[in-house]
Amino acid sequence: MNTHFGLFFSKIISWLAAAGAGLIITSHAFAADPGKIVVQVDKPGAKISPMFYGLMTEEINYSYDGGLYGELIQNRIFKNAPRGARGRRGGGDDTAPAPAPVIPHWSVVNSDGAQGTISLDTNDPVNTVALTTSLKLNIASVAAGGRVGVANDGFWGIPVRPNTTYQASFYAKGSDGFTGPLTVAIESNDGKTPFASAIVPAVADKWQKYSVTLKTGEVPPTAAARFVISGASKGTLNFNLVSLFPPTYKDRVNGNRIDIMQLLADMKPAFLRLPGGNYVEGSDYANRWDWPRTIGPLEERPTHMSPWGYRSSDGLGLLEYLEWCEDLNMEPVLAVFAAYTLNGQSYPNEYGRFAQEAVDEIEYATGDVNTKWGAQRAKDGHPAPFKLTYVEIGNEDPGGGRGGRRATYAERFPLFYLAIKARYTNLQVISTTRGNFGNYTPDVIDEHYYMDFNSALRNAHLYDNRPRTNQLGTPVPRIFVGEWATRDNKPTPSFHAALTDAAFLTGLERNADLVIMSCYAPLFDNLNPGGQQWATDLIGYDTMTAFGSPSYYVQKMFYNNKGDAVLPVALTLQIEPAPAATNAAPEGGPGGFGGRGRGPTTPPQTMFASSSLDEATGDVILKVVNAVETPQQMEISLEGAPAIGKTARMEVLTGGLTDVNSLTEPMKVAPKSSTIDASAKFVREFPGNTVTVLRFPTK
Ligand code: AHR
Repeated sequence: MNTHFGLFFSKIISWLAAAGAGLIITSHAFAADPGKIVVQVDKPGAKISPMFYGLMTEEINYSYDGGLYGELIQNRIFKNAPRGARGRRGGGDDTAPAPAPVIPHWSVVNSDGAQGTISLDTNDPVNTVALTTSLKLNIASVAAGGRVGVANDGFWGIPVRPNTTYQASFYAKGSDGFTGPLTVAIESNDGKTPFASAIVPAVADKWQKYSVTLKTGEVPPTAAARFVISGASKGTLNFNLVSLFPPTYKDRVNGNRIDIMQLLADMKPAFLRLPGGNYVEGSDYANRWDWPRTIGPLEERPTHMSPWGYRSSDGLGLLEYLEWCEDLNMEPVLAVFAAYTLNGQSYPNEYGRFAQEAVDEIEYATGDVNTKWGAQRAKDGHPAPFKLTYVEIGNEDPGGGRGGRRATYAERFPLFYLAIKARYTNLQVISTTRGNFGNYTPDVIDEHYYMDFNSALRNAHLYDNRPRTNQLGTPVPRIFVGEWATRDNKPTPSFHAALTDAAFLTGLERNADLVIMSCYAPLFDNLNPGGQQWATDLIGYDTMTAFGSPSYYVQKMFYNNKGDAVLPVALTLQIEPAPAATNAAPEGGPGGFGGRGRGPTTPPQTMFASSSLDEATGDVILKVVNAVETPQQMEISLEGAPAIGKTARMEVLTGGLTDVNSLTEPMKVAPKSSTIDASAKFVREFPGNTVTVLRFPTK
């Protein structure tokens, strides 16, 4: 039906008038009349937490290795399982002679006529903690002017940029007469074009670390490149911890990729939930988040398997997470391993040990240099403690039921809670589910919602009617929406998903008395072939380029315009929702993670809004999501406001519902800023399918 012109609605539907939600919605009697958005500027409600908007991260979709973490060498300590030519799934011709194992991402480089071979070598390790397997290069023969070397193909290539300085380092030792020199180079995959090179004049017969700087000139940007270390005389060479770093964000040693960090910095997130997600749990005992194995020199980090099917170098370990927070002015929200792994096992005999490991981990982050783990952090290069307010016990622990998990969270949570609170009375403890934890009530509960379009729209009202107190009148735990997304397109979300994301966020903002933090998940997506395990993701990248999805821009708009106190909004819709849709209740359950189901196919509501006050500037912020194609004329009333400035700043995000951003069109869907005339009461048309943020200065 055409809902735009002259439709007569005989009744006014009172949609919702939830006290906690700060929102009243009615549908209009006569659709030719403007709808109404009434903001009670003089009645600020709940404070919006300074930690309201943040980021969630884990090693998924090659988020760190091959993504944010600057290291360009894949399989730098040779721990990736060697692959036979029959392939990982056992296909191929099994009557053929067994092929030499392939060393993932490494190959031998022989110039014309030269002869050399590579193999893995466990004799004479650099150390027995992590560098236990080295790469051995035998140079059997090499003619004058020739070379034999080892090549690494990087993470889907090595990103070459003009006039750029790279830091290369490796352990090496020579034997069987090899004493050097070595040439270290970034070059084209066919070896014909050197992009940058340096010489190591001599190689000792004992393990020694060598470092060189490689500087490119006026070369064309390309990822079709490899890293090569080569020699030109006979003998044997062993290598380990081969590393190559491009410039990093804020020039951190062992730091992060600049373009991705800049995208994050532009969001102005307040916290980082780390390190997961499933990554904190691990697929099994050996591959749990074992934080002490992720700190200290890279030489002592053994690496482990991410539950997402590939090996993590752990180069981005606990301290690097904390420094990532520091670089972006975020606070960590630290998830600790809670004695449960994804294969369904918990470890009752070790609950006490793991609770103590969690306390130690907190000490590593926050302790002063006179504490054991604070001293270790100082030794690792960061004497200053980090600020920490929230610690989460595990991830998605429903306490039994889903996915065959055992009902052990109710046993484990109190032990962790007690151990943490005994030492850190001020820390806020987050549980990953509701449940009966006896006297140990979590301060905060983490809820997760992966939604389709209409679930996200319905869930804009998820918290409107949630009780704020229990039967005794005691406040219930606050809510952390620690993973959420409208899951739509692969690899990154469409504009349609961004639109419903925005509607969902208006609901979180309106309920800021109950909801204190939120973060979308997953954060990153490596778009190279085989790089993705989970769609839909906020930020996409390949080896050279990164971009924000439409959902990224929604979040940037909301994060940058959060405000400090909720302002009540009454919304009179100009366009009525389809009748079938209005009965659909929000679908989130009372806690834990839910919202994965599919809802009705019609949008439950045509417009969504939230409003807040920026206390520092006095600006009134109004966010409006027109979730249908039809434009809606709205009369905006800023009631009880001190004088409103003559102009307001406006940002609008819109696009075709199926529009996406991509490596080739990174800004196809991006917000546009402008200034509009404003007053305490005026009419404005919100075009169909738009997310609008208005900032009204008050005088
Ligand atoms: O965000 C992807 C995964 O979804 C997380 O690792 C897990 O917590 C959730 O199930």
